[in-house]
Amino acid sequence: MASASYSSLFFLLYSSLFILLYTVVFLCPEAAALSKTLDVQMLMAVKSKWQNTPPTWEGSDPCSSQWNGLVCTASRITSLTLSSMNLSGTLATEIGFLNGLQSLDLSYNKELIGPIPSTLGNLINLESLVLIGCGFTGHIPHELGNLQKLTFLDLSSNNFSGPIPPSVGNLTKLRLLDLAKNQLSGSLPVSSLNGSGLDRLINAQHFHLNSNGLSGSIPADIFHSDMQLIHVLFDSNALVGEIPLTFGHVPTLEVIRLDGNFLEGPIPSNIGKLKNVNELHLSNNNLSGTIPDLSGMNRLQYIDLSNNSFEASEALEWFGSLEQLTTLILENGSLIGPVPSKLFCLPQLETVRRLRNNDLNGTLKVDTKGSSQLQLIDLENNLITGLSVTGETYTNLMLSGNPACDKNSELVNSKACQAETTEFFYAAGSKTCGDKTCSRDFSANPDICGDKTCREDFRVNPETCECAVPYEGKLEFRAPSFSDLSNVSRVEKLKNSLCTQLNFSEGAVSICCMSFDSHYYLNIGVQLFPFGNKPFFERAEIIRIGFALSNKIYNPPDEFGTFSFTAISYYFTDPRESKGLSSEAKFGISSVAAVLALVIAGVGGYAFRQKWRAEKAIKLSKPFASWRGDSPESKRPPKVDGVRCFSFRELNRCTNYFSEDHKIGSGGYGMVYRGTLNDVSQVVAIKRAKKGSLQVQGAAEFKNEIEVLSRIHHKNLVKLTGFCFGDGEQMLVYEYMPNGSLADYLSEKSGKQLDWRKRIVIALGAARGLTYLHEYANPPIIHRDVKSSNILLDENFNAKVSDFGLSKLSVYGKEIGHMTVSAKGTPGYMDPEFFTTYELSEKSDVYSFGVVLLEIITAKGVFEDGQHIVQTVKKKLEEKGQMREVMDPFLRGESCMGFESFLNMAMRCVEESAARRPVMSDVVRDLESILTALH
Ligand SMILES: *[C@@H]1O[C@H](CO)[C@@H](O)[C@H](O)[C@H]1NC(C)=O
Ligand SMILES: *[C@@H]1O[C@H](CO)[C@@H](O)[C@H](O)[C@H]1NC(C)=O
Repeated sequence: MASASYSSLFFLLYSSLFILLYTVVFLCPEAAALSKTLDVQMLMAVKSKWQNTPPTWEGSDPCSSQWNGLVCTASRITSLTLSSMNLSGTLATEIGFLNGLQSLDLSYNKELIGPIPSTLGNLINLESLVLIGCGFTGHIPHELGNLQKLTFLDLSSNNFSGPIPPSVGNLTKLRLLDLAKNQLSGSLPVSSLNGSGLDRLINAQHFHLNSNGLSGSIPADIFHSDMQLIHVLFDSNALVGEIPLTFGHVPTLEVIRLDGNFLEGPIPSNIGKLKNVNELHLSNNNLSGTIPDLSGMNRLQYIDLSNNSFEASEALEWFGSLEQLTTLILENGSLIGPVPSKLFCLPQLETVRRLRNNDLNGTLKVDTKGSSQLQLIDLENNLITGLSVTGETYTNLMLSGNPACDKNSELVNSKACQAETTEFFYAAGSKTCGDKTCSRDFSANPDICGDKTCREDFRVNPETCECAVPYEGKLEFRAPSFSDLSNVSRVEKLKNSLCTQLNFSEGAVSICCMSFDSHYYLNIGVQLFPFGNKPFFERAEIIRIGFALSNKIYNPPDEFGTFSFTAISYYFTDPRESKGLSSEAKFGISSVAAVLALVIAGVGGYAFRQKWRAEKAIKLSKPFASWRGDSPESKRPPKVDGVRCFSFRELNRCTNYFSEDHKIGSGGYGMVYRGTLNDVSQVVAIKRAKKGSLQVQGAAEFKNEIEVLSRIHHKNLVKLTGFCFGDGEQMLVYEYMPNGSLADYLSEKSGKQLDWRKRIVIALGAARGLTYLHEYANPPIIHRDVKSSNILLDENFNAKVSDFGLSKLSVYGKEIGHMTVSAKGTPGYMDPEFFTTYELSEKSDVYSFGVVLLEIITAKGVFEDGQHIVQTVKKKLEEKGQMREVMDPFLRGESCMGFESFLNMAMRCVEESAARRPVMSDVVRDLESILTALH
């Protein structure tokens, strides 16, 4: 009885205390101190899930001491901005209790992973939520729809999946919605279908949803005349259906990117009413019908309609009336008839007309009087028969693949007929510092670095010529209004805007490596150097710069348009920073223990830390690391992982300085090494071009090839993982194939044997890979060096063709520049027709593949006993008429169903006359039926 009343009394006391506390905390402004204690506790819980918090994050009062990236107002935590702090860990649900937060920015912390908690939806005061370039996964919680005050939501470049929650439509204050570069799927939500949706965002100016896996059609009611949209970026998704007419209802639109989807039907002609549009990208869809007259869009600067299925139409006169047009791209546009000369009355100073792969004919007339600026006119692979230039000659007129460049024409040796690219690579070098480099010459200050390895992050500060560690990253412009990268003054303008807006002195900003990626995004590498002679930035500075870039406080010059920045993690040298201790653990350690821990970390852990830091740096995006490719085979939008840009030192280290015992082969291209990428424990094969060899290409050419190779994805082709370019080195990094090459299994010496079935499966795999190169890659690729040692085997003996693409690309069967062709190819495998025509075609690969098939059957070398394998087999067949005579003795014990068909097909592949050889897809079909018959 007594105990019962005690306990109820206790309960009463306890609950009234709770109510009192609640009242005090949340209802009385005077009690701010108490709510602060709650904030602090919740922040500590959030912190406990993070490693590498700034060293200033110590002690028990975040608001009184100077915690980096934290702002308290009226004793509440109102802003948490920790961009580029190398944080790792997850985002704790307790973040949802910090409901005083107005701004939350955790951008560029690649190792913040896991899902974002739905409790973020409790942060009702949040105006800006920015999580660019982290490693977050899972769905975007629909609770974010509660954040009524949000104006800025940027979750781009993470690994979010699942649909766009329709509740996003409740964020009516939102001005920017950026969910680009995730793995989002599902359709675009609209209120008529999903209860709420993007059509409700009447204050939004930016829909950046590009590079996801969004599907379904673009709902017509997503657009209406009450909207303020200026940028609609839906490119590189899997959207289907027609372009809705309602696009024409949003007069504010300036940039429309729908490229890289599966859109079909005609271009709605009312789109031409959108007078403010300066960028229109509709390339790489299945649009059909005729191209409408869009001359009403008289502010158009950049238009790309390439690679659709338009009806053949006379080259379009109205393009000539677009006064501001700098760039017109219409590859594979089914244009016919003569080139209208108006198209080349270039009112703009700088102009690009890229109309390759059409059927334009007649004589090209160009009048360049009065403008001497760089212009690119690319009319490769048309039917143009002559050229007449008034005024100055063009440096960038590209006509190869036209009758005008035929062997006997007078133009054949002119620059216009050479196939080459003249873009890419602007380097605003450190002109004043001579040859100074930091990686080799800089003597590490042991007070700063402790050991030698930290020197690797140093660069020459172009302003002081001292070595310093810059803050580096990539600016990605998603809709630049120009396409010419050679205009230095434009780059200077960009540089100046960075200097003034980010408050740097001139010279402390360096820009390099401008290039367009396969999505026509302009990528520019940026390095920002610390002030004066300081070797490092302080954390507060990094947070300031990172915030300005992640929250788009920085505004690039107009012609660059909208951008997204991604940072490479910065190397901080805080003396107290130590890895692996969670903040809670650090909390509990007494000062003596802390000192001890630091000593241990300093002595024993240092090397480890350096290693860890270096490994981490490898993971981070580099200026070119985010190229993505597409897989034309399924015409999926480009979503496959990118090709990485490795530094020489990274590859040097992972091959133990290219040591002998890492060498796994050699070839015309140079040596091949095995290496293990530390960060992902992935084994790779590294092809290193021989210095000074024929294979070492110019920068633009190399880059061009990388871009092409990065788009090639097929399970029977060895995948390109990355590359290294610079310091006179050219290297390609491929997936490693543990079972070596087919050749290893066919020579008697190897002692390894393959049974009949395995041989067919391998031949079929390789044939499929080649079919892809010939028939599905865009542009088609002739391998040029098909041989058994280029057919590699993975752990399951799946065949993958390697060594393709390092060569000129096939241009619809027309071959240019056969001189380089002869440098490739292996004796014994080469198409006999080549020696009379000096031309290679897909059928040349078929011949080489036929030789490989004969090797598979006979397990004989290509030349044995002074005879070529084709002769040997032919002779045996004629003499004996007994097909099995030529069989590899190892196979004779087996029944080898389908052997005859296999041999017949091989013999058809090695026909003298290319015309009589089958195409690769026929070979695939035959091999498939042979394999099916085995079952
Ligand atoms: C150019 O092409 C058009 C349309 O295909 C055709 O009618 C015309 O005869 C061609 N002109 C020349 C000079 O070949
Ligand atoms: C280079 O760009 C600047 C700034 O956009 C422009 O004013 C100038 O005319 C361009 N120069 C050339 C040669 O195209």
